[in-house]
Amino acid sequence: MNKRSYKNEIEFQTFEPYTYLQDKHISYLKQLENFVQKSPFLPHYHLYPKTGLMNDPNGIAYFNKQYQFFYQWFPFEPNHGMKHWGHCKSSNLVHWEDKGIALIPDQEYEKNGCYSGNSIEKDDLLYLFYTANYKTPQGKIPKQAVSIMDKAGVIQKSKNNPIIDGAPEGMSGEIRDPFVFERDGSYYMLLGAKDEHEVGQLLLYTSQDLIDWVYQGIIYLPIDKGYMLECPSLIQVEGKDVLIISSMGLEKEETRYQNQFSTVYLVGKLDLVNKVFYEEYSDEVDSGFDFYATQSFYGKNNVPMMVAWFGCGEQELPSDKDMWKHGLTMPYELKLKQNRLTHFVVPELLEQFKKKQLFHNAKITTESNTYHLTFEVSDHQDEMSIQFGYSKDYWKLQFDFKQDQISVDRSNLDIPVDVQNGEIRKATGLNKNRYQVDVFVDNSFVEIFINEGEKSFAFRTFNMTTQHHDVIFDWEAIGEIGYYQAVKS
Ligand code: FRU
Repeated sequence: MNKRSYKNEIEFQTFEPYTYLQDKHISYLKQLENFVQKSPFLPHYHLYPKTGLMNDPNGIAYFNKQYQFFYQWFPFEPNHGMKHWGHCKSSNLVHWEDKGIALIPDQEYEKNGCYSGNSIEKDDLLYLFYTANYKTPQGKIPKQAVSIMDKAGVIQKSKNNPIIDGAPEGMSGEIRDPFVFERDGSYYMLLGAKDEHEVGQLLLYTSQDLIDWVYQGIIYLPIDKGYMLECPSLIQVEGKDVLIISSMGLEKEETRYQNQFSTVYLVGKLDLVNKVFYEEYSDEVDSGFDFYATQSFYGKNNVPMMVAWFGCGEQELPSDKDMWKHGLTMPYELKLKQNRLTHFVVPELLEQFKKKQLFHNAKITTESNTYHLTFEVSDHQDEMSIQFGYSKDYWKLQFDFKQDQISVDRSNLDIPVDVQNGEIRKATGLNKNRYQVDVFVDNSFVEIFINEGEKSFAFRTFNMTTQHHDVIFDWEAIGEIGYYQAVKS
């Protein structure tokens, strides 16, 4: 059982708002790290914070023959406090080397945090772009900044920071999350924004040297932009442009945009001269409860990839009292299927599920809580459902072929999770009579993929019993189960 006695384990310290990490904090953070390690909810193959809160993936790159993953990190507490950048790297997306802190907001121009951004390689250096969060009593002054990492891993903030200071005409102070890319010999930066009429906007800047940036204007997007756009990212998949943005304030639909904030993709063509995205198809990226702020990037051999924050907005989670919160999704490969964006687990991770067993049964008791279950469902029944967990503590996956709906239901869990944002999530629009289903359970992190990522659900569950699950199908299912075997590094 996940019962933990918290008595006398550690004395928690309190911190002034906007405290940044200094040497004097190191020994406390070490204690906190040991405390977190006793949490019963820790994952094995998802990245999570050693202490405190992790949110957006930042600056993700394949640089110096290694995947460099940075992330938003408030090390002291499991809440959205002063944001630093954490860093870890890996050559295979399985074994990670923790590099600790990458950016500490210790400069005046970033006095309220080093916010999100991406990275780009130039002349053997990795340029890490970020928003220098800067608050005043009159509101925020948007500032963008850059730090440069060399191949030895040394990171230095540019002396030209902030490289963009202030808002263009017509915009509010809410402008952030630079995404820099190169096209036809020039550099471009996308920024998420809120304009003075409280409408979300995507801004475009250009540069020749990554330091001097010139504002070009707003990019026209043929979709609902809510009241604020965050974390734009652009990637080419099979010759098409794919723009992914995180939107605040989209109107809820029965099968889309159910979370506090949503991540949306557009497939088509970004015309940088006319500043228009010609959209051919768009949709929500993921249909689960806990998915936001994706970042796309090119992996080894230029494979288009993506990773997201495994969380969304301000959520209260059962792991808060264990002093850690959220994590990142698994890294995904991106493909197009009839112009729809699909995302599916990278092969490097898929290969780690071993001890595979075939089953032909209505019930399985798993051997652990880190497994990959794969099976097919077809419309031989109009409605089909599967329970994961135990008789009074489970979540449900359901297929309704008549209504063309797939849903995840968290209402039968013993420990409720973020109930005020609803307990059911639905996806629709596949219109098929047979699906391949892949369920990845990593203790409290669950990711489900339908047809290798035509639809997906990323969400957290905090089962009282974590070692084994009963998986109960309401039909005689045929499939395979494998267990995660890689040893943590
Ligand atoms: C998205 C976001 C970004 C911001 C960062 C701060 O989750 O709000 O817009 O840069 O988180 O941590």
